[in-house]
Amino acid sequence: MRIFSGIQPTGRKHLGNYIGAVEQYVAGQERGEGIYCIVDLHATTVPYDPVALRSDVHDLAAVLLAAGLDPQSAILFRQSDVAEHTELQWLLMSATAYGELTRMTQFKDKSAQHEFISAGLFSYPVLMAADILLYRTEQVPVGDDQRQHVELTRDVAQRFNARFGETLVVPEGYYPPVGARIMDLQNPERKMSTTGGSPQGTVYVTDEPEAIIRKFRTAVTDSGREIRHSPDKPGISNLLEVLAAVRGTSVAALEREFDGSGYGDLKLAVGESVATYLAPVRERYGALRADEQGLERTLERGAERARAIAAETMRQVRGAMGVGPVG
Ligand code: TRP
Repeated sequence: MRIFSGIQPTGRKHLGNYIGAVEQYVAGQERGEGIYCIVDLHATTVPYDPVALRSDVHDLAAVLLAAGLDPQSAILFRQSDVAEHTELQWLLMSATAYGELTRMTQFKDKSAQHEFISAGLFSYPVLMAADILLYRTEQVPVGDDQRQHVELTRDVAQRFNARFGETLVVPEGYYPPVGARIMDLQNPERKMSTTGGSPQGTVYVTDEPEAIIRKFRTAVTDSGREIRHSPDKPGISNLLEVLAAVRGTSVAALEREFDGSGYGDLKLAVGESVATYLAPVRERYGALRADEQGLERTLERGAERARAIAAETMRQVRGAMGVGPVG
């Protein structure tokens, strides 16, 4: 099975990204042939700093490799290294309705946050569709917030095939069951986030163990004493979900284990477990990130393998659409 996903190189990666996305990538390697793309072109659709973007790509590549992504089996590459992505985006624009794009909730949210709304932000979902369809992808592991974009990709592929003949593979979304929504430790009603979150409530993959333990120790909870997963206990529920994800166990099992314990015990247990879980990643990250040439070589090898697949899809798409020379 062919698996493809893209990940934005913006900002430092936090525990929510790690459990929700990075771990999914690593797990995907066992389910099938994984292709993972650092989507620097998507990052240019909102105001950004070019120097920071370059370095964010290296940060993210190092996090992914540190997490156990094996670039010998999986393909890891930078989107802008494979020109076919932008070419296919343009061609797919003609199979995408203007009205569809105006209905995208991420576009509505993001355009409300910026004064300059780029045309790139509007057509962002078409570039994402191109990313996916270029590799004849069968499964797309993504967060639930990307569901609408995956559905659009399916609609565009079906419309393309109906209009130009069977050419594109219609992919399925794959939405991780656990750890998809890790909340801010200081504000457990909101998702953990690099941009909108609180510094104390956001645990970074590269945080020192002591900092991690401190952040969990000061996590906001309710004034009760029962350790139970429930909607009226967002703080405790979040701690239970984090612990379940890093220990690979269930929330129900943890509720039994912590029955009768205090909130402080739970906070300490989660802090220590997360610190232990991230420590080896942080160490490997340090070594990988320091070797920028090594990272560039890995990305370039990934891009070569990606191009080989992408070029064949483009040959078929161009043929179906009647653009370019015959052949
Ligand atoms: N839009 C995705 C996000 O913000 C990132 C992305 C770009 C992506 N291209 C993709 C995800 C292709 C899956 C497949 O998370």
